[in-house]
Amino acid sequence: MTIAGPRQHARRTYSRFDSPGWLGQVLIDAIGDASPSRVLDLGCGGGVLSLAALSRWNVSELVTVDIDAAAGDEIRRALTPEQAAAHRHLRADVMSCLLDGVNGLRSGSLDIVISNPPYRTTRWTPALAPILERAGLPACTTVYGDVPVDMIFVAQALHLVRAGGSLGLILPDSIISGAALAPFRRALLEKHRVARVIQLPRRAFKGTDAQAYVVIIRREGPSTSVQLDRILADGSWLEPVNVGVEQATRRMDHGYHRAARPEAEHGKRSLREIGAVAARGTLSSVEVLKSEDPTFHTTDFPMATGASVFLPPSAGPHAAGVWAVPGDVLVARVDRRLERKVALVAEGGARLSDCVIRLRCPLGVGDRVVRSLTSPDGQAQLRAAARGTGARHISISALLDIVV
Ligand SMILES: C[S@@+](CC[C@H](N)C(=O)[O-])C[C@H]1O[C@@H](n2cnc3c(N)ncnc32)[C@H](O)[C@@H]1O
Repeated sequence: MTIAGPRQHARRTYSRFDSPGWLGQVLIDAIGDASPSRVLDLGCGGGVLSLAALSRWNVSELVTVDIDAAAGDEIRRALTPEQAAAHRHLRADVMSCLLDGVNGLRSGSLDIVISNPPYRTTRWTPALAPILERAGLPACTTVYGDVPVDMIFVAQALHLVRAGGSLGLILPDSIISGAALAPFRRALLEKHRVARVIQLPRRAFKGTDAQAYVVIIRREGPSTSVQLDRILADGSWLEPVNVGVEQATRRMDHGYHRAARPEAEHGKRSLREIGAVAARGTLSSVEVLKSEDPTFHTTDFPMATGASVFLPPSAGPHAAGVWAVPGDVLVARVDRRLERKVALVAEGGARLSDCVIRLRCPLGVGDRVVRSLTSPDGQAQLRAAARGTGARHISISALLDIVV
């Protein structure tokens, strides 16, 4: 049944990264002991999550929603006649407020909502504001003024689940650790109980490098602490880490908190605490090519991680821009393997490209910082602090949090 007027499609037209079967089981296991009566799958696709739910729970009603015209038939084909009797599919747009109040989808009417939403952004429109507001969430946009579609799915799920009910979601890295979405995480943690965040292996979805997480939220907030878990590519689980609301607002990925913890416990201090000051270079790659000054870009890092760099002799005062001088530590800001690109300036000077961060440390400390950043612990911290798909990037704030 169509309730929000998307175009008619004869076959599947939306690109889709279906969950592998094992992920459906992980999600349902993580929701934990429950005997739900009404379950909703938002953006059901071929129904991997719904099928995992039906294999665990004896529900009186399973509602599936997808904008794609082909999804309804696909999921119906996968159900046994007994399961089909308790199933209702709605063709609808989750981005529309109309989702509420139609066909029995009312606020608080579901025991459990499961979802693996699409990981993309859409243009912000004021029509999206009420969807976020009624779930107690702020309107956060990316730097380009776009809004993550997955954020709207979370808000819709929170609105539709009953008080005390649970959400089992598969969400992308941006919502879990992106700096721009920290206000969203804060509101989510303060209004609702974020119980668990399970970091999945990269490439959990065929054909994409996206870093995704299973997130379990109970509508019985606020959160006090969040259990962070991580599953490795070989299927093994790492020891969980529990973090408080402040730490979870900063980031909710196990990799980041696990890497920072052992060092912090041994009384070491972060780069910020030792007084390191970070500055991002300013030259674009085109400006690097055109510059008459000596320049330093990610391609100029020495092969050996942590080696010294000898820049052309440069007499001050320097022209505008961010310059590296002897004693500065240089770290790649953007690179596929940015943890390998750490160097100490031994002599000379150069203007930095915007893909390089300069760390200016208190006198005589640069050497120690390079040794720390290139040690196995430092490398693990850099890897954990870097974000993104393909080319990875690190923010100045995440770099300064590294303990050395
Ligand atoms: C990443 S796939 C997940 C499919 C399935 N739940 C799974 O885990 O395998 C996202 C699904 O959301 C659907 N979708 C995308 N945008 C939507 C929207 N605005 N409203 C409803 N469904 C949407 C897509 O058609 C697709 O089936």
